[in-house]
Amino acid sequence: MSTNPTPQGSRPAYERPVIVRHQAGLMNKYSRTRSARPQTEIDGVSIDELVETYGSPLFVFSERTLRASYRDLHSAMSRYWPKVRLSWSYKTNYLDAVCRIFHDEGAWAEVVSGFEYEKARHLGNPGSRIHFNGPHKPRPDLERALCEGALVHLDNFDELALAERIATDRGIRPGVAIRINLAAEGTPQWSRFGFNLESGQARDAARRVLSGGKLDLIGLHCHIGTFVLEPAAYRDAGRKLAALANELRADHGVQLDFIDLGGGFASHNTLKAQYLPGEQATPSFSRYAEAISDGLAAIEGPQPTLVLETGRALVDDAGFLVSTVQANKRLPDGRRGLVLDAGVNLLFTSFWYRHDVVPAQAFHGLPEPTVMYGPLCMNIDVVRDTMLFPPMDPGDRLVFRNVGAYNVTQWMQFITYRPPVVLVGENGKHALMRRGENLQSILEHEEVPAWLA
Ligand SMILES: Cc1ncc(COP(=O)(O)O)c(C=O)c1O
Repeated sequence: MSTNPTPQGSRPAYERPVIVRHQAGLMNKYSRTRSARPQTEIDGVSIDELVETYGSPLFVFSERTLRASYRDLHSAMSRYWPKVRLSWSYKTNYLDAVCRIFHDEGAWAEVVSGFEYEKARHLGNPGSRIHFNGPHKPRPDLERALCEGALVHLDNFDELALAERIATDRGIRPGVAIRINLAAEGTPQWSRFGFNLESGQARDAARRVLSGGKLDLIGLHCHIGTFVLEPAAYRDAGRKLAALANELRADHGVQLDFIDLGGGFASHNTLKAQYLPGEQATPSFSRYAEAISDGLAAIEGPQPTLVLETGRALVDDAGFLVSTVQANKRLPDGRRGLVLDAGVNLLFTSFWYRHDVVPAQAFHGLPEPTVMYGPLCMNIDVVRDTMLFPPMDPGDRLVFRNVGAYNVTQWMQFITYRPPVVLVGENGKHALMRRGENLQSILEHEEVPAWLA
């Protein structure tokens, strides 16, 4: 049992007795399992103050980390390739304030739906600074994007033909890119998006664009996957796109404006299947940059702009979820269960990450195997599988770290309201980026048929 520092003269705090079964996994060759250290503030703003102001649960983002990540990535890439463009992947987090920060840093927009396109336009991006991906671009969305000069990445032959019809009908000659899927070393192939390289389909699509005479081929795009921990995969993808670019240049005189290697860099999160924690396993931006430039080095002629649509690696580490313990319980197998006010409805990514979670206040007592449940009356609502965690009382708070990517876009309004999202500014101030929901926000979208009224 540990002893706690107590003010001189006062009685030591009571520590409830805990029996912790000897467990394999407490130690490994990298030493003892990391013991939790409390996180009491975010960029100098106390978590108590944030919760007192906005309530719990609460998503909090650090402006400092958002900007620093963008600058790190841009400078790492620019050291290896002369022309670099980062296009902010809207689906990763499309809160206006987050997008504004990245656009302010110089990012273009990367969108995958008519809704995201509208959001990018609403934030002041001209079509010519928007890369438009995705397998579903209905005619009105495609037409608007082509007419506004957006960089459309064609996904399939039907879409290619539709783009040609729009070009004819509207009397325009847009520049387009083709999305390509390929086998890249060390990562499973995502073959459902774009045209396949190995089967020759990507070449056919490029030739089809060129022979149609209605569209200009200005780019090649490829997004090999997400949370790709192996930089060599990008070397491989770069090499294959460079070979195709050279072939198109030699055979058809095509000079590409850009090669877009999509997103996929890992954040400092930890996948469930991962052995080492993210902070040790995640490659630096420089390692990805080196692999990409090595892969693209074979390109002949003027170098195209390298476009990246990095999402999670820019925003994940800037996001925190503060949650409050509602209750303790003991499971039949001896583990402790914690009931929290935030569940998988808010933390969708808990299905595949072992999120880093720490207490938000000083604690005492021995850590014991603990599983964390959310508030949903659903068996799947587990936000953190068994981990060693110190004793918590109802009202104590926890901080989930590296949760800025995909959660505030994929969260669900299910059983409870979605909570507010707050930004801690570089100036030390904090403010709402999204209000919490209430009954009114839900009812706004509901109608009661007249005969039931
Ligand atoms: C086309 C495209 N670009 C970029 C991204 C962002 O990927 P990530 O968040 O892994 O960087 C995605 C995500 O799936 C995507 O589909």
